[in-house]
Amino acid sequence: MADTDGLLDARDFGTSEPAAGGFHVKGAHGQDWGLRNRLSRIFRPDTGRTVMLAFDHGYFVGPMAGLERLDTRIAPLTPAADAIMMTRGALRTSIPATTGAGIVLRASGGPSILRELSDEHIALDMEDALRLNAAAVAIQVFIGGEHESRSVANLAALVDAGQRHGVAVLGVTAVGKDMVRDARYFRLATRISAEMGAHIVKTYYVEEGFETVTASCPVPIIVAGGKKLPELDALTMAYRSIQEGAAGVDMGRNIFQSENPAGMLAAVRGVVHDGLKPEEAYEIFQEKTAGAAI
Ligand code: R5P
Repeated sequence: MADTDGLLDARDFGTSEPAAGGFHVKGAHGQDWGLRNRLSRIFRPDTGRTVMLAFDHGYFVGPMAGLERLDTRIAPLTPAADAIMMTRGALRTSIPATTGAGIVLRASGGPSILRELSDEHIALDMEDALRLNAAAVAIQVFIGGEHESRSVANLAALVDAGQRHGVAVLGVTAVGKDMVRDARYFRLATRISAEMGAHIVKTYYVEEGFETVTASCPVPIIVAGGKKLPELDALTMAYRSIQEGAAGVDMGRNIFQSENPAGMLAAVRGVVHDGLKPEEAYEIFQEKTAGAAI
């Protein structure tokens, strides 16, 4: 379809219709047993959702606030997460091999914050991901970015390797500085990632039309936390994301930069798995923070 004139705008998203399939992870019913088993280490079979703790930021920004010490500050949080997302360097050096969390390995890299961020390459061999018992590998996709085409090719290559070995691929929609963060953009970016074979897609929440993003993506959407917000605001964003069709969160700064990361993680779990309203979850955060101060 070379002719892009005359494309009709999508309009009927069927946002109230449940996804077909019968497996607790959207779009995965046709996958092989091993891949579905690995997805079940990320998405809880009883709720179909996940709380993924992300601390892979150092792969391009270095030791940012909250991530100065992975071994002493982040490792103790991991038992409360369903899944953890980090680089293989962080995993091998700082996370105990006794962890029960689903392992999601950052598989792309290249530029630092000093360079053009879309200039990424695949930076992990699937064999090493298997050695590390990864449930999924994660790669950035820069739709509209300078190196859009290579990032999509990187995703496709990783999906080929993932399908060969039964390892899921998480497509991370990276928003360039010049991109408008709206539902139209995220529908484009998430759908391309899923059509290229990603089994999970991570994106950002938008206030207008987020339910059209989740409905038109045939695999689960999980929501990044983004920059640090007041705790109640972050819990509200998580709540709305879930209400509007997200299958969980992949949250970093709003947990590890909180004054009480463990309390915030417990509150986020309340929203994602127990259906708590933001205010109810915030009470959990406050109680745990008061308890920690005694
Ligand atoms: C980008 O550095 C990573 O993909 C992060 O894992 C992702 O953005 C989630 O972290 P945060 O909630 O801090 O945005």
